[in-house]
Amino acid sequence: MPSTANCSPATRTVLDALRARRTIHDFLPDVPPREAVLAALDAARWAPNHRLTEPWRFYLLGAETAERISLLNAALVSRKSGEEAAAAKLRRWRAMPGWLAVTCAKSADAPREQEDYAACCCAVQNLLLGLWAAGIGSKWSTGKVIREAGFLEAIDADATQEFCVGLVWYGYPQTVPAQQRVPLTQLLHERP
Ligand SMILES: Cc1cc2nc3c(=O)[nH]c(=O)nc-3n(C[C@H](O)[C@H](O)[C@H](O)COP(=O)(O)O)c2cc1C
Repeated sequence: MPSTANCSPATRTVLDALRARRTIHDFLPDVPPREAVLAALDAARWAPNHRLTEPWRFYLLGAETAERISLLNAALVSRKSGEEAAAAKLRRWRAMPGWLAVTCAKSADAPREQEDYAACCCAVQNLLLGLWAAGIGSKWSTGKVIREAGFLEAIDADATQEFCVGLVWYGYPQTVPAQQRVPLTQLLHERP
C-alpha cells in the first residue's frame, strides 16, 4: 500500500516533508483516525497570520454534510455536462473518505482580507503537512461548488462572515503521484 509510512523517521525533516507531500487524487476507503486529523488541525492554526487575526475556521464534515455537498456539486455538473457526468462525479465524491472545509473571515478592508486569505492558505499547507506526517494524504480542492450560495449553508457556516478557502479531502493514498518542479535556478533572481 503506497503511503508515507515507509519513510524512516530520520528522513522526516521539515524540508523532506515539504518536498515529499503530494496531492492525492485516489484514496483507500478507510477513514483515518479523528485524533490524527485533530492533531493536523491543531498544527494548522499555528500558521503565520498578520496582526494575529487568526482568520481561519475549520469544519470537520461528517457523512451527512459530505452528502449535501456531493449532491450540490452533482447538480452543478449536471447543468454543465449532463446527467451521466453528474452521476460519475457523485460516485467519486461519495468515495472520498475524509472531508474538511477551511474558511476565512471576511473583512471590509480589502488589504486585510487579502492578508487573511494568505494566512489561511498557510494554515491549509500546515494542515496538509500535518496529515502527511501521519501517513494521511489529502487534496485541497477549490472546485466551483465552494463558491456556490448553498455551500456555506451546507456546512452551516455564516456566509456574511466567511468565505471558503477550500475543501480538503483526506485519507490513505491509493497511489502517490509523481510531481516535477522547475529548478530553483529558473526561479531565483539574485540582486546585488
Ligand atoms: C489554492 C489551491 C486550489 C487547488 N484546487 C484544486 C482542485 O480544485 N482540484 C485539484 O485537482 N487540485 C487542486 N489543487 C491541488 C493542485 O492541483 C496541486 O497542488 C498541484 O497539482 C501540485 O501537486 P502537489 O500538491 O502534489 O505538489 C489546488 C491547490 C491549491 C494551492
